[in-house]
Amino acid sequence: MSELDVLKELESMRMAGLEALAKVENEDALQAWRTAFLGRSAPVMQVFQKLGSYAAEERKEIGQAANEVKVALEGAYAERLSELKERATAAALASESLDVTLPGRPVVQGRLHPDTQMLRELFSVFGEMGFQVYRSREVETDEFNFQLLNFPVGHPARDMQDTYFIEAGERGDNPILLRTHTSPGQIHAMQEAAATNPTNPPPVRIVLPGMAYRYEQTDARHETQFDQIEGLAVGPGITFTNLKATLSDLARRLFGENVRTRFRASYFPFTEPSAEFDIECFLCGGKGCPVCGGGWLEIGGCGMVHPNVLRNGGYDPERYSGFAFGLGPQRIAMLRYGINDIRYFWENDLRFLEQF
Ligand code: DAH
Repeated sequence: MSELDVLKELESMRMAGLEALAKVENEDALQAWRTAFLGRSAPVMQVFQKLGSYAAEERKEIGQAANEVKVALEGAYAERLSELKERATAAALASESLDVTLPGRPVVQGRLHPDTQMLRELFSVFGEMGFQVYRSREVETDEFNFQLLNFPVGHPARDMQDTYFIEAGERGDNPILLRTHTSPGQIHAMQEAAATNPTNPPPVRIVLPGMAYRYEQTDARHETQFDQIEGLAVGPGITFTNLKATLSDLARRLFGENVRTRFRASYFPFTEPSAEFDIECFLCGGKGCPVCGGGWLEIGGCGMVHPNVLRNGGYDPERYSGFAFGLGPQRIAMLRYGINDIRYFWENDLRFLEQF
């Protein structure tokens, strides 16, 4: 081959190499390219191997030209390699990058039990009306749970409240029991207040929240453990009108300005007169529906504190009067949220609890 032909050949090797390199898209293909164009049996390399067959003058020129092609291809290779590396890094970064528009992972958050929420709402309403929260024991004696509240031993009204007894045997007519209602707290609160000034006991205005227990068959409306919030206001000149105003105001604050309320004559041993307190059913607007039956929903019991109960608390019924009421916070929550079974409250099923 003449020198001129070799030089032309070298030029087309350079072109072919650069052209092929432009099509290389990844590092594997790049290594194959390198073997083909710069490897031991690559055309340029073969030119070097055959240099000895040329005359000295030609050898020098061909050698130089072949070297230029080799250096050019090596340079192009290095450039392409760093391009591909950069591209790979960018792709890796892109695939790793944080997409701030993705929804976050949910953080499980605790919340207050619906009964606790209801109680706190009641405390705040009663607090605004001037009632203080008073707590008393869940384990009681028969004397406080019944006798001082005007349920004498053997009185039939005790049957309304099936009782869990804790200790009976030796204690005769005064067994220890789980309180069946929060009403015994009335006696504790009055006795405590009266002890501070027995001749002129101070007025009392309290709400008594807490658990009560009854030995009952459970069903959608009855649990063996439930809570109550008891109210008591004692002072000179307290009337039934004060009671009506207090409970009507409560109903408006809980269920809205326009809610209608009703007091229905009833019987409790510790109040006289006694009443049940109803609100107009907000589900049917008083027409009557499966939840309310006749258009009214019962919220709790109430009445004027019986003279015997005042006396047992240390208050002279000739000088003092008072009203009392007992509400079921769970019952109020059931009406408000349309909960149809009281047993959901203590089942601890998150599907229920998470709705509040
Ligand atoms: N203690 C009654 C019960 O558990 C509820 C009750 C009714 C409480 C009338 C009162 C009241 O203070 O005046 O069934």
